[in-house]
Amino acid sequence: MMDQSALMLRMTVLLVLGLKSGTEAKMDIISSKSDLEVGDDHLLLCKAGGEGEITWQKDSEDIEEEDKVSRVDETSSKLFIRKAKLEDAGSYTCLCDFDSGRKEQTFMNIYVHEGPSFGATQVYHEFLKGQDGVVPCLVSGQPSVEVRWWRSQQEIFSHDGDRVWHMQNNSLHIKDVRKDDAGTYSCQASIRGRPIKKILPISVVVNAPPTVNLKEAVKKVMAGADNNVSLLCLVDGQPTPNISWIMPGQYDPARHQFNSDRSQLTIWSVSRADYGEYICTASNKIGESTGTIELHVSEAPEVYVSADKETVSWGNNVSVSCNVTGHPFPQLYWINKQSRNIVDSISGRVYVRDGVLTIVEVAPSDGGLYSCMAVSTSGNASRDVAVITQPGPPQDVSVAPKATSLVFSLKTQPISGGTPIRSFVLQWRRGSAEKWEETLVPVSDPLAITSLTPYTSYTVRLAAMNAVGPGQFSTTQEVRSQGIREPDRPVLSSDEMKVDGNALSVPVVQLNSGSSPLLHYAIRYRQEKEGAKWKEEQRPADTSIISLSDLSFGEDYRMEVMAVNANGSSSPAKLSFTAPKQAAGMTKGGVVAIVMGIFLLLLIVVDATCCYTNRCGLLMFISAKVLGRKVPGLKTLEEGDGTNGDLNLKGLDTPRGSIHQQQTKEGKLNSEVTCDKAPLTKHEKHFGDMPTMEA
Ligand SMILES: *[C@@H]1O[C@H](CO)[C@@H](O)[C@H](O)[C@H]1NC(C)=O
Ligand SMILES: *[C@@H]1O[C@H](CO)[C@@H](O)[C@H](O)[C@H]1NC(C)=O
Ligand SMILES: *[C@@H]1O[C@H](CO)[C@@H](O)[C@H](O)[C@H]1NC(C)=O
Ligand SMILES: *[C@@H]1O[C@H](CO)[C@@H](O)[C@H](O)[C@H]1NC(C)=O
Ligand SMILES: *[C@@H]1O[C@H](CO)[C@@H](O)[C@H](O)[C@H]1NC(C)=O
Ligand SMILES: *[C@@H]1O[C@H](CO)[C@@H](O)[C@H](O)[C@H]1NC(C)=O
Ligand SMILES: *[C@@H]1O[C@H](CO)[C@@H](O)[C@H](O)[C@H]1NC(C)=O
Repeated sequence: MMDQSALMLRMTVLLVLGLKSGTEAKMDIISSKSDLEVGDDHLLLCKAGGEGEITWQKDSEDIEEEDKVSRVDETSSKLFIRKAKLEDAGSYTCLCDFDSGRKEQTFMNIYVHEGPSFGATQVYHEFLKGQDGVVPCLVSGQPSVEVRWWRSQQEIFSHDGDRVWHMQNNSLHIKDVRKDDAGTYSCQASIRGRPIKKILPISVVVNAPPTVNLKEAVKKVMAGADNNVSLLCLVDGQPTPNISWIMPGQYDPARHQFNSDRSQLTIWSVSRADYGEYICTASNKIGESTGTIELHVSEAPEVYVSADKETVSWGNNVSVSCNVTGHPFPQLYWINKQSRNIVDSISGRVYVRDGVLTIVEVAPSDGGLYSCMAVSTSGNASRDVAVITQPGPPQDVSVAPKATSLVFSLKTQPISGGTPIRSFVLQWRRGSAEKWEETLVPVSDPLAITSLTPYTSYTVRLAAMNAVGPGQFSTTQEVRSQGIREPDRPVLSSDEMKVDGNALSVPVVQLNSGSSPLLHYAIRYRQEKEGAKWKEEQRPADTSIISLSDLSFGEDYRMEVMAVNANGSSSPAKLSFTAPKQAAGMTKGGVVAIVMGIFLLLLIVVDATCCYTNRCGLLMFISAKVLGRKVPGLKTLEEGDGTNGDLNLKGLDTPRGSIHQQQTKEGKLNSEVTCDKAPLTKHEKHFGDMPTMEA
């Protein structure tokens, strides 16, 4: 029903427009629209160019009804279509008989439609994934209605081959519904041939049953306060499924945490008790699905020992127990870390039973580190136990005696007993009736007993000492401390003595420096004559050749050499020699002649002496032959007194000339060395049998 006042307003507008139009011949039907919906009220105004009689026709038939047509003024008429019906559609003609006698007409087509309407069309559909879905669009309307399907600006055509297509009966067909088919579709209905259309949005929802997708069905973790594990249960489904979990243990909000959709369960600080099956269930209105995750929790081995250190006295028994934990359960071993051997369970002095290490009658060699080991696939662990006992007895002990001390030396260190040797106990006594005296020497110091009496016999022994205490003593030894001694007499090699002009050199050797090192050699020498003064000199201790110079030519000398140490000086080594006369340029033959001459003279003198004193000798023999009488006591030449031309001259008793000749020929002189035995100190009687070189 059209509002009355609105109708009046519209007619006024039409009138004004009509008045404005031009000439008589001009005719117009004025209408706000040409498409009417059934039930609409509508007004057509016919305007003529001049005054005249205006009549209306529909489809060339006069419209008679008074209530439809009415005259507005001299030049216009209106046609009123009330509650339009489909039959009202048609061609409306306005005719005018002008007062001038002219006739004019004009026409206008009016269409009437019903709809289109979607009636009971459902605007919401749910389909199950994988099935076929049909979305009907129920349209009605007159004249005929045309349907088109759209999805987001894209038309869906009626191609039979397509998965989603527009069926003949205007339904939308979705074959094998997929998740992405969900959304809004548009059913567009239009009146065929007319610009009349309506659109109905239709929602399509695709449902899917839940599925569970496990990334890992078996999860392995190590127990530990810092170890966390996440179990992931990925689910699919429409509507989005709810996830719930079933755990082997109690849910503990402090250790178990879910993410927002509960698809991930995190367990903090995994412990062995967390192992087991974790079942996640995904459910929605379509159905439910489950997945099972197996959680394996291994535990690193741990080792517990009853003590870290066992101190045990030599000969006693000791036991250390060990237990191990872990998953998988580890193997337990005891290892001797010195020998790197596994201690077996077979009975012996050292054995393991039920994880207990036992050492029966501990020996020093048992001392050291033992390790209880746990070995499993989830790792290894070990704990060390120190077993310590006293050290073993020192072996291979040698003792070097000094005057007031005895110095021990060890070829090998004693067995430590499992903890380092810190010191040695040195013991000594003079006789078995006496008490042992002892001293403690740190291992870094020389092993010496000091302040002993020189040249005394002692019984000695020593023992190593560690944190546990002193170990066994070494076997005892008898040693005598040395006497305090000055050096031995030096040895002068008179065979290698050289007298060259007024200089002498003779090698010297010191065989024994006594109880302290040699300080120097003291030398004194003087001419071999009445009232000659000693000249004294020193030579360093490392001297190997003693030399004298500025001797007087042709003089006999006596020299004494003494070795000196802190305890005194040795007895003197003595040497006599003659410095040669200054060379006179004599020939060899001359020398021989002189020697022969002197020899002959000597022979005669001796013989004469013999003759006069003992009535013997050559002269006596000759005189006896000449005088022809036997002289009593006559000795033959064969029985001579040994003066036989031997050039080996005998020391100081040899005539001077002979020595001189000997020296010029060989530059060498055999001298007599008078070796007096040095007086012994009171501690040194056993050195008294030194060989001497007395002539
Ligand atoms: C259209 O045709 C399909 C397939 O033959 C049928 O399932 C559907 O019910 C029909 N829709 C209407 C509204 O008749
Ligand atoms: C486990 O979680 C704790 C607490 O959040 C964290 O301190 C630790 O670093 C995590 N451990 C690992 C291996 O991520
Ligand atoms: C999913 O969980 C929510 C919250 O716990 C609950 O309200 C809903 O009913 C559950 N839905 C199903 C299908 O179990
Ligand atoms: C040590 O063990 C052995 C063997 O078990 C036993 O015969 C001995 O008496 C024990 N010794 C001590 C001091 O306990
Ligand atoms: C292992 O030893 C430790 C310490 O000695 C003890 O506390 C623990 O109970 C022992 N465990 C087993 C399983 O024997
Ligand atoms: C554990 O000890 C065994 C035997 O001693 C060895 O073979 C293995 O490599 C060790 N494993 C680890 C992780 O140290
Ligand atoms: C001998 O020499 C040593 C080392 O110098 C010294 O200790 C000792 O007192 C000396 N003895 C005598 C009797 O001079």
